[in-house]
Amino acid sequence: MRRDWVVGGCAWLLVAGFPLGAALAQSPAPESVATGAQLYDKWWKAVPGTKAPVGDHPVWASQTTNKAKGEATWRCKECHGWDYRGKDGAYGSGSHATGFPGVLAARGKSLDELKAILKGSADRRHDFSSVLNDAALTHLATFLKHGPVDLKPLIDLKTKKAVKAEADAGKKSFDACAACHGADGATLNFGKPAKPEYVGTVARANPWEFQHKVRFGHPGSDPPMPAAAELGLSLQDVLDLLAYSQTLRDK
Ligand code: HEC
Ligand code: HEC
Repeated sequence: MRRDWVVGGCAWLLVAGFPLGAALAQSPAPESVATGAQLYDKWWKAVPGTKAPVGDHPVWASQTTNKAKGEATWRCKECHGWDYRGKDGAYGSGSHATGFPGVLAARGKSLDELKAILKGSADRRHDFSSVLNDAALTHLATFLKHGPVDLKPLIDLKTKKAVKAEADAGKKSFDACAACHGADGATLNFGKPAKPEYVGTVARANPWEFQHKVRFGHPGSDPPMPAAAELGLSLQDVLDLLAYSQTLRDK
């Protein structure tokens, strides 16, 4: 439906002679940003039919601090962070630390430059074209350009709380989540029966992961988790949801 609208809209602009072609070309399709973000999260779950990678990512050997092995080492988020800040963010210390850079500066690059980086232009080992097709690389580049925000001023690194948020407003938005996660956020358990992980657990332990999943959805989930944009939620709404979710049951 949206595609029809875009095509119709473009035809209309041509007829009306508006010089807005460039502006339209700049604004990304929200679903492409969300798909790219899910690829950033765990690409082999985001693309149906893609196989999980085997062995460690080739760049992994250039660090020794993060002891993860195998498929985890292929997730963009494992090297660049849920906060997109790499060594300068939440993964600057602790078991996930790698010393690898973030991707916030990538927002200043063109989609072509970003796709080239994902095909190994800067570092041959950083070539994902053997495991991801061109459409997937385009979604990733679209996400890198338009999805990441600098969370440093928004979520406090130490307290893990949103700097400015209204839990009451978050409670209202949570109705949209409760349909799947339950009013207490504990209907779906992402962990194990003995060591459950609920919405409240993720919100408290990793607010950066929380904002990424809530803004863009969870790759390969059944049923598919909608992205915030599909639910009409803004970044501030997501921060409000974070504040509220941190009050929910966590074990
Ligand atoms: C194993 C670790 C690792 C993984 C996995 C990884 N990267 Fe990287 N990435 C790096 C390192 C290290 C650099 C910096 C130098 C280089 O290119 O090797 C980098 C550089 C980048 C840059 C350039 C940043 C800049 O400002 O110049 C972008 C963009 C990027 N990666 C995106 C991604 C995306 C998207 C994925 C997932 C498909 C991904 N990376 C997966 C380690 C990784
Ligand atoms: C249509 C159903 C649906 C809706 C609506 C939904 N989710 Fe989800 N969500 C899921 C499913 C399914 C998963 C994956 C569960 C799993 O991995 O076991 C998930 C995963 C998550 C996770 C990540 C768990 C992890 O692995 O770290 C968080 C956080 C989350 N949801 C929060 C929310 C919030 C907040 C909302 C409301 C804005 C929401 N969800 C709306 C279905 C939904």
